[in-house]
Amino acid sequence: MADRKTALITGASFGIGAEFARIFAREGYNLVLVARTANKLRQLASELEKAHGTRSLILAADLTDPGAPAYVLDQTKRADLQVDVLVNNAGFGQYGLFVDNDLEECLRQIQLNVTTLTHLTRLYLPAMLERGSGGVLNVASTAAFQPGPLMAVYFATKAYVLLFSEAIANELQGTGVTVTCLCPGATTTEFHKRANATGMRLLRMGSMDAHTVAEDGYRALVAGKPVVISGFKNWLVAQSVRFSPRRLVTAIARKTQEE
Ligand SMILES: NC(=O)c1ccc[n+]([C@@H]2O[C@H](COP(=O)([O-])OP(=O)(O)OC[C@H]3O[C@@H](n4cnc5c(N)ncnc54)[C@H](OP(=O)(O)O)[C@@H]3O)[C@@H](O)[C@H]2O)c1
Repeated sequence: MADRKTALITGASFGIGAEFARIFAREGYNLVLVARTANKLRQLASELEKAHGTRSLILAADLTDPGAPAYVLDQTKRADLQVDVLVNNAGFGQYGLFVDNDLEECLRQIQLNVTTLTHLTRLYLPAMLERGSGGVLNVASTAAFQPGPLMAVYFATKAYVLLFSEAIANELQGTGVTVTCLCPGATTTEFHKRANATGMRLLRMGSMDAHTVAEDGYRALVAGKPVVISGFKNWLVAQSVRFSPRRLVTAIARKTQEE
């Protein structure tokens, strides 16, 4: 299977990331699976080996560790892997008033959602550019389109992911390397439980399944689209905020975030 391409997926142990792994495996990729929960990664790797003959390199790493991106690069180099697609999916949120939230957790959130994503992108892009082919798929959120009271830092990190991705997608035009930003709305995964945000009004308005969301991201990556919002309803909401006063948009966002 030496001719298989390789996709590196962060946060592959649960939710949208695990679905990305299933999709890339189905499409004939070998995988580099990164997250902290090694047993989940091993289970997934064994499922995909049986189903598709996929070979997976498992990297159990805490990506909030500032040294983690260099470690990941080093491990893929040692395994002599060429990473054709980098999926920056790992991320988490923290619910509550900014001033009441644990500061260390808040900074770890920025480290993972923003710094690690930027760092990994910067580490893997040069080899892709040298080859004149490759893709980066960054997972933002519909949170990227407005301020998010009660998840202030999370929304801001996702706005960063969207703007950063769009800017480098533009810079890389004509190089053969593409950057795609996937913006899911509420999706059924571990995310809200982990963020202590299961009571939010937003979740009563329905949520998408992780597989559909990951398929939307994969298709947009293949098409070389810079941005994709998963789900028509989410697309509509993201468009509507562009024409509304920002204070109103922020007040409505607060209502949907409240319990
Ligand atoms: N679910 C939603 O409603 C929603 C909506 C919009 C955007 N998103 C975004 O979608 C992405 C995937 O989230 P999800 O919904 O699939 O949530 P999830 O089920 O909680 O999965 C998050 C993944 O990120 C990994 N992760 C978290 N902290 C990590 C760390 N310190 N080091 C390494 N890996 C870490 C987790 O693995 P370990 O715990 O094993 O480390 C897990 O695999 C995130 O970027 C999230 O912001 C989610």
